[in-house]
Amino acid sequence: MNKSRIFTVLLISSSILFLSCNEGVKDEPKPVDIQELTKNQPETHGTELKEGDIKLTNPLDQAMVSAGKATYELKCLSCHKLTDEKLVGPGWAGVTKKRQPTWIMNMITNVDMMLEKDPEAQKLLELCLVRMPNQNISQDEARKVIEFMRSNDGEK
Ligand code: HEC
Repeated sequence: MNKSRIFTVLLISSSILFLSCNEGVKDEPKPVDIQELTKNQPETHGTELKEGDIKLTNPLDQAMVSAGKATYELKCLSCHKLTDEKLVGPGWAGVTKKRQPTWIMNMITNVDMMLEKDPEAQKLLELCLVRMPNQNISQDEARKVIEFMRSNDGEK
């Protein structure tokens, strides 16, 4: 036997070995890659509100204004000023004039969804470079914050 023949024999026998090993693996169950599975699923937090889901009333409900102010002081004040000056997030002055109440509600109760698909929210993210955290605010709480924002914008 010359050298190249030995080499060929080795090559063939090792590939038979390789194939048979592979076949053994084929029958074992494959582990599920959760990240791959959920890759294209949207995040869902809270409920997405549609135009018209929120009714504003005049005059302002003062009890809601003060409840909203309390929430603001506890959970929002560290990032939002009441003027138009930016802190971590944009200042709130004028926010109820330039945004629909449903938009604001979704931003407060469903911020991940908004940052994922709403162009206006994404513009703010580009500006602020920080993702507003999901603060687990209920719709009821958020509605009261809107009343406080309206009062901050000079509504009576
Ligand atoms: C850790 C900082 C932080 C906290 C706390 C925070 N926000 Fe924000 N907020 C942001 C940032 C940053 C943005 C801009 C969007 C982005 O970058 O994610 C934003 C955007 C917003 C907007 C849109 C403003 C506009 O000009 O359209 C609203 C409304 C808002 N936040 C409400 C709230 C409310 C209500 C709370 C408290 C319950 C709160 N935020 C708490 C950082 C924060």
